[in-house]
Amino acid sequence: MFQKDLLKGRTIFITGAGTGLGRSMALRFAELGANLFIVGRREEPLKQTTEEIRAAGARAAYFSTDVRDFDAVEKAIEAAEKEFGRVDTLVNNAAGNFIARTEKLSPNAFNAVVGIVLQGTFFCTLALGRKWIAKKQPGHVLNIVTTYAAVNSGSGFVVPSACAKAGVLALTRSLAVEWARYHIRLNAIAPGPFPTEGAFSRLLPSKEFEERAKNHHPMKRFGRHEELANLAVYLLSEQADYVNGECVVIDGGLWLRGAGEFNDFLDLPDAAWDMLEGARKSKS
Ligand code: HXC
Ligand code: NAP
Repeated sequence: MFQKDLLKGRTIFITGAGTGLGRSMALRFAELGANLFIVGRREEPLKQTTEEIRAAGARAAYFSTDVRDFDAVEKAIEAAEKEFGRVDTLVNNAAGNFIARTEKLSPNAFNAVVGIVLQGTFFCTLALGRKWIAKKQPGHVLNIVTTYAAVNSGSGFVVPSACAKAGVLALTRSLAVEWARYHIRLNAIAPGPFPTEGAFSRLLPSKEFEERAKNHHPMKRFGRHEELANLAVYLLSEQADYVNGECVVIDGGLWLRGAGEFNDFLDLPDAAWDMLEGARKSKS
């Protein structure tokens, strides 16, 4: 389905695309014909991603924006419209997160994460959604959440992020219904672990933690960026026109490992299985 011109004619406004998964998605969208307008706070990574997209022959531009500031978001959208004429697709990917014991958090620590993730997503969605509705123009929105918001109903030690991502999922599902009459479609992706500097430096504090996380995974590996980027392409493409208000988990089965009562038997060595099975045979 990933035909060369699948996203031709589309202009995608994506947040946090100077680095990590946002950057990988932006490069893939551009490869399939889309124009990219990328935003984030630091200019240097935005500039680098933009140059990389242009070098590959596609159109791209960037704007330094803090998504917590509604006026700044509106200015970025104006700049995108000036560059490309119109924006028809939004990817809310920017996020903030860190591991902490909740009782140690300051009120501002909570605000910082909720501001980026929930408020930032709402601001971008509101600013573009209003324009699409006024112009009677269809729109596509993709929100990046986490498995601990999508299937696990939260997680200890990342409480601001868990609260914010749960809010983003509620926003996705609520507006999928409310704005369907305006031909605005909203979906979400809940990724498991995908190696990025931003996430892994903050959430897997050492190589040892990283190895442990990999060994705990049923597939014994982390996600590959192209796997997530291709899922994003599908959800944004016309081929997914009837998929609305959905959240697709892409984690190689990791969350299910915690869900099955006997799944820890994955760690049982063959010798222990032989013993168990031998005991059963000698009884029968
Ligand atoms: C406790 C912390 C903290 C930490 C910051 N704070 N880091 N508190 N533990 N590790 C507190 C600060 O003391 C401050 O409160 C408040 O948070 C705001 O901090 P600032 O540094 O001033 O904020 P800001 O510059 O806005 O930075 C935001 C940030 C930062 C979220 C704190 O980490 C950031 O910019 N992150 C962006 C990239 C990122 O996080 N990527 C990972 C996404 S991974 P006081 O009271 O002192 O003012 C993800 C899901 C992964 O989302 C799931 C994996 C499976
Ligand atoms: P990342 O590289 O740190 O990406 C986060 C991006 O958000 C950065 O480019 C950052 O750029 C931008 N950003 C942060 N605060 C911002 C603000 N206030 N305004 C504008 N932009 C801001 O981490 P990542 O792993 O690629 O994460 C991408 C998305 O995937 C996030 O939504 C994350 O929650 C989700 N996710 C990741 C994983 C994983 O394993 N990697 C797992 C589950 C979910 P600046 O700092 O320059 O602003």
